[in-house]
Amino acid sequence: MDSDLFDPYEKLIEIEILGQRVKVPENNRLLRCFQYLSMQTISYGDFCWNGDCTNCQIWFHTEGQTEAQDRPALSCRMQVTEGIVITRMSHCVKLEGINK
Ligand code: FES
Repeated sequence: MDSDLFDPYEKLIEIEILGQRVKVPENNRLLRCFQYLSMQTISYGDFCWNGDCTNCQIWFHTEGQTEAQDRPALSCRMQVTEGIVITRMSHCVKLEGINK
């Protein structure tokens, strides 16, 4: 894996995506974390990476909250945090082994 893609990280942290617990690099934006999980689909996906296209939109809440508290976010803009729960994603976000 091309580690230059990612912002420097020392460890992986756990998040939840559509009910699956996965480990992704800390200190990175969520879309990079998605790329870490699914290099092909995200690298070749239709993403501007700078907040314009909204193709990377997700809905999430933090650990301990419920789906009623879901908020939208652009994953290319949002920094990953341990334990976040992603409940919905734009149809453009395809992750191997999760929704593809
Ligand atoms: S990738 Fe275009 S807005 Fe996030």
